[in-house]
Amino acid sequence: MLETTLLLLALLLVCVLWYSRGRHNYWANRGIPSTPALPVIGHAHQLFLNKYPWEMFERDYKLHSRIGLYGRYEMFSPVLVVTDPDLLKQILVKDFDNFTDRRPFGSQPGSIMGSMLSNMSGEEWKTLRSIMTPTFSSGKMKRMFDYVCTNADSLVASCLKDAQNNLFLDMKDKCGRFTMDTIASCAFGIEPKSITNEKPVFAQKADNFFSMTPYKLVRFVLMFMFPKLFNALGLKADTADVDFFRDVVEKTIKSRQQNNRQRGDFLDLMLNARETNDDDENLSTKSANHVLTNHTVLAQCIMFLIAGYDTTASTLAFASHLLAKNVKEQQQLREEIQELVKKEGELTYHGVMEAKLLDACINETLRLYCPAATGERICTRPYKVPGTEVTLMPGDLVQFPIWSIHRDPKYWTDPETFKPQRFLPDNKTNITPFTFMPFGMGPRNCIAMRFAQMEAKVALAKLLLSAELQVVPRYEDIILDSNSFLLRPKDGQKIRVIPIKQE
Ligand code: HEM
Ligand SMILES: *[C@@H]1O[C@H](CO)[C@@H](O)[C@H](O)[C@H]1NC(C)=O
Ligand SMILES: *[C@@H]1O[C@H](CO)[C@@H](O)[C@H](O)[C@H]1NC(C)=O
Ligand SMILES: *[C@@H]1O[C@H](CO)[C@@H](O)[C@H](O)[C@H]1NC(C)=O
Ligand SMILES: *[C@@H]1O[C@H](CO)[C@@H](O)[C@H](O)[C@H]1NC(C)=O
Ligand SMILES: *[C@@H]1O[C@H](CO)[C@@H](O)[C@H](O)[C@H]1NC(C)=O
Ligand SMILES: *[C@@H]1O[C@H](CO)[C@@H](O)[C@H](O)[C@H]1NC(C)=O
Repeated sequence: MLETTLLLLALLLVCVLWYSRGRHNYWANRGIPSTPALPVIGHAHQLFLNKYPWEMFERDYKLHSRIGLYGRYEMFSPVLVVTDPDLLKQILVKDFDNFTDRRPFGSQPGSIMGSMLSNMSGEEWKTLRSIMTPTFSSGKMKRMFDYVCTNADSLVASCLKDAQNNLFLDMKDKCGRFTMDTIASCAFGIEPKSITNEKPVFAQKADNFFSMTPYKLVRFVLMFMFPKLFNALGLKADTADVDFFRDVVEKTIKSRQQNNRQRGDFLDLMLNARETNDDDENLSTKSANHVLTNHTVLAQCIMFLIAGYDTTASTLAFASHLLAKNVKEQQQLREEIQELVKKEGELTYHGVMEAKLLDACINETLRLYCPAATGERICTRPYKVPGTEVTLMPGDLVQFPIWSIHRDPKYWTDPETFKPQRFLPDNKTNITPFTFMPFGMGPRNCIAMRFAQMEAKVALAKLLLSAELQVVPRYEDIILDSNSFLLRPKDGQKIRVIPIKQE
């Protein structure tokens, strides 16, 4: 009896291994390099063996980047990792129609998380994206500039005030309050007053959303890789933090409707695109402009409050630290901004967007510390990868290791060093296209790229005009959060802020 069981188990094992080997021959059969895969698991364990998720590409990147692409397996599924800039351009821009989507995020139809633009696919994504894009038109950006300035002034005032009684400040916390207030005022016309508040509820909830505990990490991986199991366990895609923002947005929508005043902001755009009641509206005109359900509107608003928070706050915290460490660059940047203010009388939209060194410093920060350290697309139409024997099929995953490309010595001399000069106009020609993509690339890149850059530039400029940034002994190095999929500082970013006497 026991012997038969053992025999059957052994047979089963052999079958599984045999099947696994067959599946894991996919890349070898197509002449694509791939490091040996573990039976069944493939390369999925790489995610857990490295300190940071984005490091799972590092070793194989170094081995294969000369060829420009390599294969890996998530369990049995083949994944193509693309490292060659030309091929990246092909996939992200030229042949975008064959790769319009990202990997679906779990499977809980009706959830808020699943109804966000970031998780949408195909035509639905296209329609929604085109409705949302005007949020950041040039005209609207100029109008938002004033709100950004007001909040940046509060940020600076708050930093200077706290600097009186503290040896150092947590810049991640400060900047997180700033980005929350900024997105809330720009997109919704509401003021959470996170900067001045003892208990900044909005910012804390958003921070909680991004702070991963080991439990949340496992949850996340389950949702991505085993959505059916995730649902079977009764887990919900929408966490309590999402519910908090749902209440906030519902209240905001109500009050906007009561006031009946158009501000021309993101919320108006969403509400105007909302489905109208069928009885009093012509169906033919309805379909074109009023396509969003209440649920879709709600999801995009919550996405904005959450997406607007962490990435930009981390960028600002990293930039502050890098400038604190690089005293010469900090002074050069301060002089550029002082010059600007002298010329135009104040910090203007035009001035901020034209400042060369400011742009270079933000970009160099994002090169070294890109909050979104990896990117991906799902193949949506059969695609013959140029120069190979591979035809990707709909559903196949393509990944691009942004972190590794940003630190590849082939493209960046002295890649670990903060050198904003790389991005100055005269040096720009030395940058290989598609080796710098902190906001992704192509039609599905970060929808708020220009806004995030403007926001970061204004805050950094105002900060440097009023204060000198210094590193704090014992906190000389940036320590990254190893429990997070986003690249963010662990336990904040401590910086000394010394007020500059204004003449
Ligand atoms: C420094 C700040 C930011 C960085 C580095 C960043 C980075 C990114 C990246 C890398 C992507 C994926 C792009 C791709 O797949 O090619 C993305 C997508 C997205 N980002 Fe950002 N982001 C930032 C700020 C923001 C802000 C402030 C908002 C909203 C107010 C935002 C909203 C979004 C949305 C909605 C998407 C999904 C777009 C789509 O699927 O069509 N991001 N971002
Ligand atoms: C994400 O999108 C996919 C495909 O459009 C959908 O099946 C899934 O339910 C969505 N995710 C969640 C969590 O709802
Ligand atoms: C609905 O559309 C038709 C045809 O375009 C038009 O003749 C009619 O006046 C419209 N009705 C209303 C209530 O707008
Ligand atoms: C959407 O919300 C508005 C008010 O916020 C309400 O008047 C309308 O009936 C809702 N539509 C649906 C389909 O629930
Ligand atoms: C992309 O998809 C289109 C439409 O299915 C197809 O005609 C085209 O050959 C694909 N591109 C490549 C390079 O395979
Ligand atoms: C800085 O980065 C942004 C976004 O990635 C890009 O549009 C801009 O051209 C870059 N600036 C320089 C000088 O390379
Ligand atoms: C180009 O970058 C190098 C450092 O990488 C710097 O020494 C040089 O001054 C830069 N050139 C310009 C014109 O900014």
